[in-house]
Amino acid sequence: MKIAILGTGNVGATLGRKWAGKDHEVIFGVRDVSAGKHQALLNTIKNGQATIAPMVEAAEAAEVIVMALPGSVVPEIVVGLSPALSGKIIVDATNHVSASDMSSLKTLGVAVPNGKLFRAFNTLGWENFETPELGGTQIDLFYCGEPGAAQEIVEQLIADVGLRPIYIGDLDKVSVLDALTRLWFTLSSQQGYGRRLAFKMLTA
Ligand SMILES: NC(=O)c1ccc[n+]([C@@H]2O[C@H](COP(=O)([O-])OP(=O)(O)OC[C@H]3O[C@@H](n4cnc5c(N)ncnc54)[C@H](OP(=O)(O)O)[C@@H]3O)[C@@H](O)[C@H]2O)c1
Repeated sequence: MKIAILGTGNVGATLGRKWAGKDHEVIFGVRDVSAGKHQALLNTIKNGQATIAPMVEAAEAAEVIVMALPGSVVPEIVVGLSPALSGKIIVDATNHVSASDMSSLKTLGVAVPNGKLFRAFNTLGWENFETPELGGTQIDLFYCGEPGAAQEIVEQLIADVGLRPIYIGDLDKVSVLDALTRLWFTLSSQQGYGRRLAFKMLTA
């Protein structure tokens, strides 16, 4: 799968390393391709499985695009990106932590009306993507978005990170998902449980 990851910070770099390790073709979309830190990132990734490109080129080349940018940046960058995002799977991992709507889905939905939108990788700290188990138990990753063929692809990408995907429904479940993110922040910082904190769904 060709995956564009927009943003090379904690989330973007971690997901990129995981997917490259599973033989996906990762293209990191960045604002300054000449920045020296990008080569350092590529040096941590299996040879040839990842490249750096301007955001539009990365999105054009990919089948799946992951938004791993500050939420505040999405409205400004999505304008120029919308043709490249058209009709593709777009995974929103952004969190506007202090806003009532934490996601970027409304912005993405307006800019890319035919995009296949998903919300994933936003409910846990990135350390839990890097090491997707705690005490020998696999971490669950809850996500939502359009059901069907695109969902199967997103589900496989979550599994390729090493997490257990738990689908909670279409985009009308975003507020449910984002409530989980708020719970994660509350427990990890306000209640002092730290960032190696995750949720496990148990069923009979
Ligand atoms: N950190 C977590 O544990 C975590 C977990 C789940 C979700 N999230 C969410 O995921 C997103 C990314 O988080 P992160 O921790 O990976 O952030 P980060 O480490 O701060 O990295 C942010 C990335 O966004 C890029 N960026 C910042 N401003 C930009 C702009 N104006 N134009 C283009 N690119 C810009 C940065 O590029 P430069 O290198 O060029 O500055 C960098 O690659 C955020 O929305 C965050 O809320 C974070």
